[in-house]
Amino acid sequence: VDPGEFVAELTPADRDELFLIGRRRRWPAGATLFSEGDRSTTVVLVISGRAKVFSLTAQGGEVLLAIRGPGALLGEMSALDGAPRSASVSALEPLETYVVGVAAFLEFLGSHPDAAVRIVRMIVSRLRDADRKRVEFGTYDTLGRVALRLAELAERFGDSQPDAVRISLPLTQDELAAWTGSSRESVTKALGALRRQGIIETSRRSVSVIDLDRLRARAK
Ligand code: CMP
Repeated sequence: VDPGEFVAELTPADRDELFLIGRRRRWPAGATLFSEGDRSTTVVLVISGRAKVFSLTAQGGEVLLAIRGPGALLGEMSALDGAPRSASVSALEPLETYVVGVAAFLEFLGSHPDAAVRIVRMIVSRLRDADRKRVEFGTYDTLGRVALRLAELAERFGDSQPDAVRISLPLTQDELAAWTGSSRESVTKALGALRRQGIIETSRRSVSVIDLDRLRARAK
């Protein structure tokens, strides 16, 4: 199970109950769900579509923190600690969601310990990930980091085809650069190198992983 997945882990009865206290909302591609620093009043459950979680640097650059897909719970951090939104979230494609008020959500967690434990697991998994990234950023070269992120994306969001795993995400090279802690130039070089080695193919908006095993082997 995707560690970011929350909804599928609930029992059908709990899921229905949570949907009942929320309201359905659709967001067009590009819509901002949350802005970093805002006060929190809601959490959002993603039913379909993918969203990006990002933070802005002092220079106005965007650092991509995560991509969250169907089943994700968004906004739980400030719902739980009452602090401002830790990051901004926007729709990478049209989203279908349920929006739940913070007070109702906390009440739901109080009466559904399994769901609360599920959130703890999700946050632990995110902390492990953050620890791992810190180590990687210090020790892997750009090619290794790009290969690692692409392998993760292929595994989580890839569309398996007979001879390749296609990842089509509206992600720019700048975003991939921020996500891997590299410059855009070195990301372009890394993608070029992986392409020349026959590990990936690239087109305007998508990357096809031709050889996931070799990509994984290069991810260090
Ligand atoms: P919140 O801080 O309320 O608003 C921004 C949301 O983005 C946050 O809750 C989480 O749901 C999500 N988020 C923030 N950082 C990460 C991360 N590193 N990985 C995945 N999701 C995140």
